[in-house]
Amino acid sequence: MIRRKQIVLLLLFMVFALMSAKAQKIFITNTQNRDFTNLNGKWEYVLDPFKTGGMGGMAVYRNAVAKEKTDRVEYSFDKAQTLWVPGSWNIQKPELTYFEGNIWYRRMFDMPDLKKNKRYFVNVGAANYITTVTFNGKELGKHEGGFTPFSFEVTDLVKETGNFLIIGVNASRRPDYIPAEVSDWFNHGGITRDVKLIEVPETFINNYFISLDKETLRSKTKRINGKLQIAGDVIPEKARIIIPELNVNHEINVNKQGDTNFSVDVKKLELWSPENPKLYKVIVEAGNDIVADEIGFRTIETRGKQILLNGNPVFLKGICLHDENPLRKDRANSVEDAELVLNWAQELGCNFIRLAHYPHQENIVRLADKKGILLWEELPLYWGIQWNNPEVLKKAKKQYTELINRDYNRASSIIWSIANETAPIPDRNAFLGELADYIRTIDDTRLLSAACKKDQELDGHPDSVYTYNDPIMDKLDVISFNEYLGWYGGNPDECRNKSFKMGQEKPVIVSEFGGGAIQGFHGDSLTRWSEEFQEYLYIESIDMFDKIDGLAGMAPWILVDFMSPLRQLQGVQDGWNRKGLISEKGQKKKAFYVLQKYYKNK
Ligand code: GCU
Repeated sequence: MIRRKQIVLLLLFMVFALMSAKAQKIFITNTQNRDFTNLNGKWEYVLDPFKTGGMGGMAVYRNAVAKEKTDRVEYSFDKAQTLWVPGSWNIQKPELTYFEGNIWYRRMFDMPDLKKNKRYFVNVGAANYITTVTFNGKELGKHEGGFTPFSFEVTDLVKETGNFLIIGVNASRRPDYIPAEVSDWFNHGGITRDVKLIEVPETFINNYFISLDKETLRSKTKRINGKLQIAGDVIPEKARIIIPELNVNHEINVNKQGDTNFSVDVKKLELWSPENPKLYKVIVEAGNDIVADEIGFRTIETRGKQILLNGNPVFLKGICLHDENPLRKDRANSVEDAELVLNWAQELGCNFIRLAHYPHQENIVRLADKKGILLWEELPLYWGIQWNNPEVLKKAKKQYTELINRDYNRASSIIWSIANETAPIPDRNAFLGELADYIRTIDDTRLLSAACKKDQELDGHPDSVYTYNDPIMDKLDVISFNEYLGWYGGNPDECRNKSFKMGQEKPVIVSEFGGGAIQGFHGDSLTRWSEEFQEYLYIESIDMFDKIDGLAGMAPWILVDFMSPLRQLQGVQDGWNRKGLISEKGQKKKAFYVLQKYYKNK
């Protein structure tokens, strides 16, 4: 009788362990340093404008093929055209230029070296906007959000030959999405970043969060704090963190849930900074899993109106950027794309980039770590968000969790921004206040900011002093605002009698200013769209902002012209926002050199 009870108890324990393991939130960090099969390349695709592809008989993900002459199949991947993955579908086919509906992609592949004691996950760097992932005829789940990574497990489905991964992407814009329906950038649809089949041990390191303890900044012995998340049915009792260059080989006790915190003291730590972007090889071991990363250690905080990097005041010589390679008219999705824009930013004299208005590709964050460029990152909580919709707040929290899971260990990322140009109505204040509190519970090592709203209604308002008392400022470490005096309202010379008064004693970043110009179009300084107008606007704007008490940085709008359906002025915009300091062909405009000179002398 006892034996039977023991067997029942053991079975119950195994079921519980299995359920809790499966219930673990899987976010596989640092995917590029895992074992994986790269699934990028040419994928067949099937158009599904009316979103019937996931339903019943039309279920495209079954990859049906007509075998008998009587069989009815109303789609076929085998004879389909192809799309490059990663890539915006809009720029690959003329008939898809403004397509924002559903497309089903298929990737066939074999796994000849499939291993029994491994787990397999399909990982997508980003797909815009609603993604349905299916594998070998089974729907695995959906993801919402166009700019953050996600994974689905396929361990029990993957075969040695004939696997078919079918992913449906819908690029519609809706009022309850993030962003909502209107934004000043091109709504690139599709699988816009890498797709990998990741292979990990049965128990593996799901995520880790490692950072320098700012309390030890000034002491000889520094402390590195960390949190480890281990996933799997059988959680090991111990894990290990190794930092060879710091003689760290530290054993970590792991709790039964696999979530564990640790601290390790180190000597002679070189701090990461733009001047010295020192990265350390960090190895994390748990069970049979070993993951290597390159991590920089720094602190970022504020004191009064200063931003302190490693305890020293820093002025953020910034520029704004969209996640696009203008030369290819595509979403940025490679190291080469990141190199292109970061080299332009460094030539401009920048130590800071605002990655507007959504999470950019991971390559640019990792390259900024290597190059020593500080970053502002944000979700597209932009203009008209449904602030009174609790589902939208849930989405914002989930997408921010995905972003922080991905970039927590990146020294270059110093600011999380929670909104851009949003009216300070009560629902928005409540939404953003709750989001700010939530972000701080998962990452209290970075600064929070947002592009706040000034008290005056219009750009070019006759008041000589613009005042800022946006309620959301209570939740921010850094106050930011966008100001287009001289472009939207007023002329550049009106900048000379304008000043700014912040309602709080916090560091200030001008998170946008600027104006449009066609590269190569010349006129006098008041001829709109000429390079000379943009140059004059930059001269007057920089003088105006440089007088702000507590100015801790600026990020003019924008490094390079970018695609936007809002900008349709024929012969001038032609679908491009022309506020770049560089044209979409990579040619610099005169204002580039105005900002470059200011940063050089700052
Ligand atoms: C706004 C907005 C940007 C936009 C820019 C412009 O402030 O934040 O996304 O592109 O101004 O009007 O060009």
